[in-house]
Amino acid sequence: MTKRLGRMQNNPLQLNNPDEVTVNDRTYNIVTFGCQMNVNESAWLERGLKRAGFTPAPEDSARVHILNTCSVRAKPVQKVMSLLGRIEKLTNADPDVLVAVGGCVAQQVGEQFFKRFPQVRLVFGPDGTANAPAALERLLAEPGLKLSLLDFSAEYVDKEPLLNGPAPTSAYVDIMQGCDNFCTYCIVPFTRGPKKSRPKQSVLAECRTLVEQGSREITLLGQNVNAYALDQPDWNISFAELLYEVAAIPGLLRLRFMTSHPKDIAPEVIDAFKDLPNLCPRLHLPLQSGSNRVLERMNRGYTVERYLEIVSALREARPELELSTDIIVGFPGETEADFEATMLAMQNARFIDSFSFCYSDRPGTKSERFLDKVSSSVALDRLARLQAWQTNQREAFLKSQVGKQTHMLVESPSKRNNGWQGRDPYGHIVNIVSEQALPGRLLPVTIIEAKKHSLIAKEALND
Ligand code: SAH
Ligand code: SF4
Ligand code: F3S
Repeated sequence: MTKRLGRMQNNPLQLNNPDEVTVNDRTYNIVTFGCQMNVNESAWLERGLKRAGFTPAPEDSARVHILNTCSVRAKPVQKVMSLLGRIEKLTNADPDVLVAVGGCVAQQVGEQFFKRFPQVRLVFGPDGTANAPAALERLLAEPGLKLSLLDFSAEYVDKEPLLNGPAPTSAYVDIMQGCDNFCTYCIVPFTRGPKKSRPKQSVLAECRTLVEQGSREITLLGQNVNAYALDQPDWNISFAELLYEVAAIPGLLRLRFMTSHPKDIAPEVIDAFKDLPNLCPRLHLPLQSGSNRVLERMNRGYTVERYLEIVSALREARPELELSTDIIVGFPGETEADFEATMLAMQNARFIDSFSFCYSDRPGTKSERFLDKVSSSVALDRLARLQAWQTNQREAFLKSQVGKQTHMLVESPSKRNNGWQGRDPYGHIVNIVSEQALPGRLLPVTIIEAKKHSLIAKEALND
């Protein structure tokens, strides 16, 4: 028997014999906040849901709403709360609508969501993602039930394998979960638990499958990839060795990784930039502050001098390498002199891009208890100065590319001029009108124009 559920019906399932009931409106809408790890986990979740017969639907008609959340700063948490309020309003608080909150805010706030938003019947932390599709199925069948999946797992949990079919030109592959660095400002160790590396065989198998299914670029992902396998001394593998093995997969044109912690970057990883032609000449290396006093209070484990030494070694290994970074301004106790030290370090490192944020107090972190907080007006003023400098740098770099010959990895049709969109080796978006462009092709191009955030190219005459 197939039973069609109307969204406004109350408790429509006859559960006496659940085997007889097939729920037809298995529709879901998923909203993802936060970092690439969350984006990747949402992709896993979607694969699990699709395997269970769910189909995607727009926000105003989905039966199951999933919010994959981020709590790295206060702002993304507020966004989650307002989205939950909006769903409640949009669906007239319909009890048939099932809302699941996953990710880092779920890990932190947990079952309190049940009281605040009655439609929320599932909370799952990052380690609960693998079991979320099965939990959702159960919740659809048992309307009174609420479930939480908030335990940290001791080991890396492998999630939904890839679906058969074309893979994206540029793909992301998880190599570890969690972090135990406890930078004093950061909530991630509390929301994702200690680091758990993914077995090499499983990483390599996923990379090979992706390349067989059409991926040409892979980004290895983790909160601190340089610490890969440090939690598993018996595996006898380092991050650098993993890089060499992935880079050797036939057909893989480009390899990237993020995020790198400067304190854990090994000389072998720096050498990899010299040895591996398919390792892209772009590294995201969060500096956070250019003041040693602030770095120490952040518990970052390096000095600005050490950071700049790493930068020099990287540039020596790969002269065309370009760097980007993360900066926090207004960390407790940051003086104008500390901030100026940050600006100086940025000039010395010549970052072509940066993600910069005002410090935000996170519950339970060590720096939440630091008393010398910086006022938001001072922090915002510093942020504006830093970002103005960075905008000039980025635009100057993009302009410097005009006239140069490079390669773009074509990804998808572009919204501009019926052309194609792809990326240069630095990861900048490149748009082109070309007869030759096809997704997955590495196209020799000449840059002809720089926009604020992207480049325009034409086909190069010769490779
Ligand atoms: N694992 C990565 C970063 C994860 S969080 C690393 O170690 O670099 C991403 C960025 O958010 C951080 O690099 C930091 O710049 C910023 N961030 C983290 N906690 C923050 C806080 N409490 N306030 C403001 N920015 C923060
Ligand atoms: Fe947070 Fe530091 Fe871990 Fe990055 S390395 S996730 S900033 S604790
Ligand atoms: Fe946010 Fe969690 Fe990623 S706090 S940045 S979603 S690890």
